[in-house]
Amino acid sequence: MTDEQLLEAAHQARRTAYAPYSGFLVGAAVLAEDGRVYSGCNMENVAYPEGVCAEGVALGAMVLGGARRARMIAIVAGPEGELRPTMPCGGCRQKIAEFAGPETEVVITGSDGEIQRYRMADLLPSAFTSNDLSKD
Ligand code: THU
Repeated sequence: MTDEQLLEAAHQARRTAYAPYSGFLVGAAVLAEDGRVYSGCNMENVAYPEGVCAEGVALGAMVLGGARRARMIAIVAGPEGELRPTMPCGGCRQKIAEFAGPETEVVITGSDGEIQRYRMADLLPSAFTSNDLSKD
């Protein structure tokens, strides 16, 4: 599975996005440890804070599918007819970190098709982890 293929899965997921309030359509695709791809799109709500991001939906699909580790995550976002290289929001970085390692890659692209690649270690340095919960 190449990053181009994973981005294509994110493109497909974006086409299903439900974003009538922001008009900002997001698709995410997770390549999991089991080699399968799990997708998600953002899903907004008239009660704005109840909306959910595409990455969380994709990770939920991964967990439902029985996988627990993400190898790579692709995100494609933008208003209708336009793609903008879009970084995952802070909350999504924390959600991704739960199922990722420092080397897990996040790949994004815009309308020009140019791919940007990031490592989770760079996207969420000094993360809050399960180590912070342990007493010793
Ligand atoms: N959004 C995502 O789906 N993922 C992100 O990482 C950033 C933001 C969604 C939430 C909302 O539906 C729309 O983009 C505008 O913020």
